[in-house]
Order: sequence, then structure tokens, then C-alpha cells
Amino acid sequence: MPEFHSLAPTPLCHLLGCRHPLILAGMGGVARAELAAAVSGFGGFGFLGMVREPLALIEREVAQVRRLTDQPFGVNLIPAGTARALLRSQVDLSIALGVTAVELFWDVDEWAIDRLRGAGITVVHQVGSARDALHAQAAGAHAVIAQGVEAGGHVWGRQPLVSLLDEVLGCVSIPVAAAGGLADGHDVGRVLAQGAQAAVLGTALMATTESFAHGVHKERLVSGKASDTLLTEDFHINWPPHAAVRVLPNAVTRGERGDPFTSAPQVIGEEEGRPIYLFSTDSPLRSMTGALETMALYAGKGIDRITAIVPAAERLQGILEGAAAHLRLVGDAAQPLASPVCYAAEVQHRERAPVVAALQALLADERAWVQQLFACRAQTPDAALRQRCGALLQVQTKACGLLVRCLRGLDAQPDPAQSRPATELQVPWQALMDLRPGLMQQWRVVASQLDGSDALACTEMMRLHEAAMA
Ligand SMILES: Cc1cc2nc3c(=O)[nH]c(=O)nc-3n(C[C@H](O)[C@H](O)[C@H](O)COP(=O)(O)O)c2cc1C
Repeated sequence: MPEFHSLAPTPLCHLLGCRHPLILAGMGGVARAELAAAVSGFGGFGFLGMVREPLALIEREVAQVRRLTDQPFGVNLIPAGTARALLRSQVDLSIALGVTAVELFWDVDEWAIDRLRGAGITVVHQVGSARDALHAQAAGAHAVIAQGVEAGGHVWGRQPLVSLLDEVLGCVSIPVAAAGGLADGHDVGRVLAQGAQAAVLGTALMATTESFAHGVHKERLVSGKASDTLLTEDFHINWPPHAAVRVLPNAVTRGERGDPFTSAPQVIGEEEGRPIYLFSTDSPLRSMTGALETMALYAGKGIDRITAIVPAAERLQGILEGAAAHLRLVGDAAQPLASPVCYAAEVQHRERAPVVAALQALLADERAWVQQLFACRAQTPDAALRQRCGALLQVQTKACGLLVRCLRGLDAQPDPAQSRPATELQVPWQALMDLRPGLMQQWRVVASQLDGSDALACTEMMRLHEAAMA
């Protein structure tokens, strides 16, 4: 394949052992062996969606992927949505089967991360906030996926992907992938240009011939619109309370099937002898019969760009080419629109160097603060101090996001070389507060070197810092 039709592998690709920065979301029920093998066989990375699945099924699916491809793949588990004993045996089985990676989601489960990492498995954690990204990193995750509110299925955070991604990129030093509403090459090119090391695709790969979703669900993805999708807690059986899902509307979301929280249990379908309950989180699968339209019709906000059910490799190839074209355009746009003989690019680069350096230094300091505050908040028994740490953490994760955005506006990315090891950061609270004037001075310098809306945003960020530290 000519290079201009492809995407360069990222460090996250090297970690996972895949060629393309395209990851199949570990969708429960939907991402079975056929789909995971198609994605990994293409050169992306497939996660089998194995939440709450019995061990025999996990073993069968893993063996089936191995029959279909010799490329690496992983397993997705959800500790918070799984009975403890089953989760422990799922983790042990994933280790025994020697899968390359395990993707975890929802609450950060330190035991699971530690056990998997200790056994040499790459741990990728999907998160919905910068704070959870920090928690996953501190617990030992090798990479995180920032899930924006546009995502289909269970949605943890409420932030749009574009701002969440900046904050997570600003706060953690491990690779970051992006998820939520990504369905074509433009979407993927955009998050890669923003600094993500891979795009995670759920809905776009559910709408393929290999996915295990029922045809009824796939047809709704083709005909549905992003503006129709909604976040609801109506589909809640099998999950911890207050877990919202993004779905297409149906009789349940229109309230035509009664109150999801007080109605008596009602069976609406069946899967190989297993009853499917009304208001459960089960989505219609190939193996199910019954009132399929009344089940959870998960869909992300990228569905406007899904116009047909196609083989996974065809969808991925289109996305790869579209993303490569988008990145070329972005790269071209960064070139000066001037005569090549006037060396405008070099001049511009030299002029920007001081502000880029100031932004990088401030980002490294803000990131160090964020990590220190996170550790302080987790360790202190003092409730008032925990609250102060939390308030500051909220401002400073946003500050990291803003600095990443300012850097990108100057065609720069956060410099990983400037991040500091966590051990240097264990300063007591008072010492941290003593560093405050220096930090504010750095913000003043950065704000004075920037123009327009970035300068205004930095001034506002200084005000927020002062208010949170007061
Ligand atoms: C049908 C469906 C099932 C999902 N099941 C899971 C799951 O079991 N585990 C998980 O970590 N995420 C699950 N998700 C969320 C995905 O990991 C991912 O965040 C989401 O698909 C990304 O948004 P997109 O669907 O717009 O691409 C699911 C998503 C969908 C659409």
C-alpha cells in the first residue's frame, strides 16, 4: 500500500503490536471472534467484548480468533459490571490464555490492573474524565482511552471528546487513544492530529458484516441519525446504578413500556435458553429472538456517517485513507502560504520557539501539580484537605487541556521528555502552596506571549487558579 494512503504506527501501536492506529472497541456481545479477527487481521487491534461472559465462552472466542488470524488481539472486561468471583476468574483466564492486552472500563479497579500488569499483559483503561485517567495511570495502566460523551453504549463521562482528549493528553504521560462518535477518516484524522495515538471505533464497526449485532440493530444504525440518539438510564438491569447508555429511541425510551425502575421483571427475548429482560443492558444479537426492537439499540453520534453495512476491512480501509488524506491536508495547511524563497516557515518557527518553550515548561509544571494533588487527595485522611485538592485538581486538569490546545495552535505537541517521574512529586501540601507564586508568574509570561482568544483563556485560567487556591 503506498504510504500516503496509510497512517504511521504510533507508540501505542508498538505497545499493542498492530500496524494501524485503529482499535475495535470491546463491545459486549457485539465484538466477538469474527469481528475482532477481522480488525486485527487488517492490521488494527481487536478487543473481544467479554463483559460478564462465562469462562467457556471466553475460551471459545479466543480460540476462534486464533484460528482466523495470527495477529495480536485483546479482551475487554468491566470489573464494576461483573460479580467479583467471575471477574477474578476472567482475569486469571485472560492471563492463562496469554492474550496481548486487556481493556478495562468504568471504575478503576486497582486489583485487576495490578494482577494483569504483573502477569505481563498490556492494560488499556477506558475513562470518561482526566481524573480517572490519572487514577488508571497511577494504578499501572499502560495506556488510556478517553471516551467522549458522543460514544455509543455505556458512557462514563459527560465531556465532549474534543475537550476531554486535550485534558487527558495534558495530564497523563502514558499513550492516549480517543473514543466516541468516530466513524470516518475525517473523524479519525482529527483526533490523531489532536495527539491521540489511536482511534477507538465502536458503532462504525458494529455496522459491519462480521459484527455479532442482530440485523435489526444494524439496519437502525444505517437509518438512524446522530440527533436521534439519547443518553438514558432506562436500560439498567445487569449494571451498577446511574450508568447512562447512548441509544437510538424505541418504545422503552418513549416511556411506552412502563417505569424501568418499578415494573415487575418481564422477559422480552431469549438467547440460547437465557432470558432477556425488559430494561436490561442486553442489545439485540444474532443469537437472540424476541422483541428485538425493544432492547437497547446502542449507537454513537457518528452514525450520520454510516450509510451501509460493509465488511470490517472495507470500512477500515476507507477510514485509513480518509484519515491519511485529512492529516495531509492539516499538514499542508500548516505550511506558509508564501514564496518558498522567503523562508517564512523557518522565521515563523524561530519566532514561536520562546512561547512554545514557555508553554511546554508550564504544562510540565501543571502536570506535576495535578499528579501531586491526585496523590495528596487519595492519601490524606483530612476531608477539608481532600476537598481543596479536588477543587484545585478540577482547575488544573482544565489548565492542562488549555495548554495542550495552545501548543497545538502553534503546531506543537506536549513534549514527553519534559514530564517528571512521580517520585519527584511527593512534596507536602504547604511546600506545594509555596510554589504557587512561581506558577502564577509562569502563567503571566505565557499569557503575555499569546494572542487573541488563547491569551484571554490563559488570563481566565489564572483567575480560576487564584480562586481555587484562595
Ligand atoms: C454496542 C456497544 C456495546 C458496548 N459495550 C462495551 C463493553 O462491553 N465494554 C466497554 O468497555 N465498552 C463498551 N462500549 C463502549 C465502547 O467501548 C466505546 O466507548 C464506544 O463504542 C465508542 O463510541 P462509538 O460507538 O461512537 O464509536 C460499547 C459500545 C457499543 C456501541
